Amino acid sequence: MIGMPQPAFYVFKCQQSAPPGMPKPSCVSQSNPESQQLMQHLSQSLMMKGIIATVSPIQTSCLNRCQQGPVILVEPGHTMYVGLTKEKIDRIVEEHFVGGNVVTDYVIGDELWADPIDPASMAR
Ligand code: FES
Repeated sequence: MIGMPQPAFYVFKCQQSAPPGMPKPSCVSQSNPESQQLMQHLSQSLMMKGIIATVSPIQTSCLNRCQQGPVILVEPGHTMYVGLTKEKIDRIVEEHFVGGNVVTDYVIGDELWADPIDPASMAR
């Protein structure tokens, strides 16, 4: 019996919003109407491309890179894309998910997304 295929990618979209007047920025904001449409746009873009069965969009809360929002995190690969717009999402769908090439123009800077710390080195 053939198993159910895994998704090729999981796309974690930060859907955290902050109330008006909150000093901390958030990935979904009343002051940025486009930010409120990006999750739906991502899903629609994957559907239109015919790849939503293998590229799975997932809503998350804060991913701790709020100043760079709106952000998505793509796994596998630990690739974080920042400052997203609908246009940027379309390019990521085409070039990363279909083409297999990370869109370096939109990737968070190394100074903000350094290599992970091995949990074994921190464990007590
Ligand atoms: S609000 Fe999106 S990363 Fe914090």
